[in-house]
Amino acid sequence: MKVGIIGCGNIFQHYLKNANKFSHIQILACASVDAAEAKAKASEFGLRAMSVDEIIEDREIGLIINLTPPQFHAEVSMRVLNAGKHVYSEKPIAISLEEAKQILDLAAKKNLRVGCAPDTILGDSHQACRKIIDSGLIGQVISGTAFMMTRGPESWHPNPFFFYQHGGGPMLDIGPYYISALVNFLGPVRSVFAHVNNSIPERVAGAEPHVGKKIPIEVPTSYSGVVEFQNNSTINCNINWETLKHSHPPIELYGPQGSVIMPDPNQFGGQVKVFQSDGKDWEDHVVAERYPFSCRLVGVADMVYAIDKGIPHACSGELAAHVLEVMLAFEASSKLKQAVSIQSTCVRPHLLPETWD
Ligand SMILES: NC(=O)c1ccc[n+]([C@@H]2O[C@H](COP(=O)([O-])OP(=O)(O)OC[C@H]3O[C@@H](n4cnc5c(N)ncnc54)[C@H](O)[C@@H]3O)[C@@H](O)[C@H]2O)c1
Repeated sequence: MKVGIIGCGNIFQHYLKNANKFSHIQILACASVDAAEAKAKASEFGLRAMSVDEIIEDREIGLIINLTPPQFHAEVSMRVLNAGKHVYSEKPIAISLEEAKQILDLAAKKNLRVGCAPDTILGDSHQACRKIIDSGLIGQVISGTAFMMTRGPESWHPNPFFFYQHGGGPMLDIGPYYISALVNFLGPVRSVFAHVNNSIPERVAGAEPHVGKKIPIEVPTSYSGVVEFQNNSTINCNINWETLKHSHPPIELYGPQGSVIMPDPNQFGGQVKVFQSDGKDWEDHVVAERYPFSCRLVGVADMVYAIDKGIPHACSGELAAHVLEVMLAFEASSKLKQAVSIQSTCVRPHLLPETWD
């Protein structure tokens, strides 16, 4: 599959550095609203620089990776689909449910595929954790916790403003890693009961070139809630940019015969730990070393493989739209002061194929 990329910013290089790991995809060209940026990235990585119109209309390219900021994901993905190409978007798939539905409807109508990050769910620690759960080692998961708590990105990020604008915030920015991982482990979500708020109404940029500038805050920066899954398990989630330090593991899952610690779901690898009813302490679980490092692009590789085999791909648009509905339900539930039922569903992503052959 010949692949093009729209959006040549921060995350671009992470996709390109893995390009030679997958022989069944070939990244040909890149484009951006900023033509100079596209030209510079193209020459750095040996690609063709194109305008956004050119890459969308190019006849050789069959799939486009959408690496624009979240506010543009829907607009760009719709254009790609309308031009008859498959699209794989960075997370979140869109910033509203209406947009996500439009993308999926258009793809279905045109018989095209939609893929979406995060593809960390295909990383080693995720796959190991999923296999532990599927094997029944700890029994049916009953409950668990998910914690993503930091003070926020404005102390170090050179352009922190968009993180606090509509479509940003800790839930839409980092939540996809956590919620996608949980759906991978436990299946789709039935309901969300949550409280969101904003305890730090004023934030100041800490890195050049904006040091000292005030950051307008349009989104909640703290989300706490209970996520109930269709398999009856419940997970307590705290996702915020209001915490200086904490000591909770990113994800813990509890079953009748044991517990599992999942490392940071924003990474591909990391140490999975298991406690079993006959054990004395947590034990390191042996994790296969296939994609232990940052391997963004593996989701695209899986999607292209699945298109060829005529099977579903793991990082699907349906999964991403379901995850988006769950994330947005935190704020909706908080406003209503009651649990919100999740209308969408999805199939659990498949395990990483043993080989791409
Ligand atoms: N930076 C990270 O560490 C990181 C990590 C994981 C995921 N992501 C996700 O990747 C996406 C991009 O993030 P980033 O950090 O690379 O952003 P960025 O702002 O650095 O880059 C965005 C790129 O998109 C281009 N662009 C903006 N609007 C466009 C439009 N309408 N049409 C075409 N091109 C357009 C910009 O010129 C730029 O090249 C986001 O969805 C983000 O959530 C980023």
